[in-house]
Amino acid sequence: MMNFIRRCPLGAKDRLGYDMRMTELLPLSDLSIARASAILRTGGLVAFPTETVYGLGANANNAAAVAGIFGAKNRPEFNPLISHVATPDAAFALGQKTPMAAALADAFWPGPMTLVLTREPDCPIAMLTSAGLEKIALRVPAHPEAQRLLAAFGEPIAAPSANMSGKISPSRAAHVMQSLAGRIDLVLDGGACENGVESTIIDCTGAQAIILRPGGVTRDKIARVLINANLDPEMGKPSISENDNAPVSPGQLASHYAPNAALRLNALSAATDETLVGFGKIAGSGEQPISLSRTGNLNEAAANLFDLLHQLDALKLPKIAIAPIPDTGLGEAINDRLRRAAAPR
Ligand code: TXA
Ligand code: MG
Repeated sequence: MMNFIRRCPLGAKDRLGYDMRMTELLPLSDLSIARASAILRTGGLVAFPTETVYGLGANANNAAAVAGIFGAKNRPEFNPLISHVATPDAAFALGQKTPMAAALADAFWPGPMTLVLTREPDCPIAMLTSAGLEKIALRVPAHPEAQRLLAAFGEPIAAPSANMSGKISPSRAAHVMQSLAGRIDLVLDGGACENGVESTIIDCTGAQAIILRPGGVTRDKIARVLINANLDPEMGKPSISENDNAPVSPGQLASHYAPNAALRLNALSAATDETLVGFGKIAGSGEQPISLSRTGNLNEAAANLFDLLHQLDALKLPKIAIAPIPDTGLGEAINDRLRRAAAPR
């Protein structure tokens, strides 16, 4: 097996302060697929080809692994991610199968289409994967090697495009290496992607289909399928972004999860009517102090963030205070999310 490794000294950090690791580049084979699933199983990061672009994959059910995706991409905010599965049946075990979703899946899966569906009650996908939303994005890719990887791994794989945040999407393994070598564990080289454009994202949770992102599956094709299935072929419009009246771009959706409680940020201690969420040296409220990460680990804090907010919301607390989170690395995305959650509504 040909094997290219980008070496790095143990304990090295790159210029962004990221803990570097060795990145393997392997051609696709039974062996490299087995290696990829083993890495995914232990929470690692694997880039793999799909027919649209290369994805940067992690176990979608493992919040800490998914936090690793945001860290590696240096993403300053938590966009909800697409979870990839091998079959439509696997997708509909995770997200609700409405007549609209069923018709679209019959027509376009496997393929360059992502459906946003309501999470099934027992759906194991991590809250961080969907950025705290009760809706999840699912895709069944057609690429034969992506299919092989998904079948071998057997769990959903969360994957945004495999590039540093703000850079162009990769359509070759070499693009992934240029962008992410030293930051992820493995790149599976499957040659050039056919489409080079990301999947069409369709929200199927309402009465009308809503195209959140145009892609290879066109509006006309979608309308035709809906007509043939005796469904409303009219398509709704994406909702408006939080800050202004501009149309949403991917990841800037107004539907981001916001807790019911009032949030106060950068709190060093709790006022009498507040519950404090700790971080690092600042311990939170309670006998077993609530904390995003007692050891001050940003990866752990990112993995805990949405789960913790959901849990605190379920307790119907009126006021939550949150300890300061350093604004470096993943801290930038955590603080971005916290600022949005704390903004007046
Ligand atoms: O072709 C593709 O779709 C590639 C390959 C790797 O599958 N993936 C990709 O992922 O382009 P990404 O992270 O660049 O785009 C994901 C977008 C988010 O920014 C958001 O717009 C939408 O998918 N999305 C994901 N989950 C969502 C949700 N629960 N509700 C609404 N939109 C969601
Ligand atoms: Mg992208």
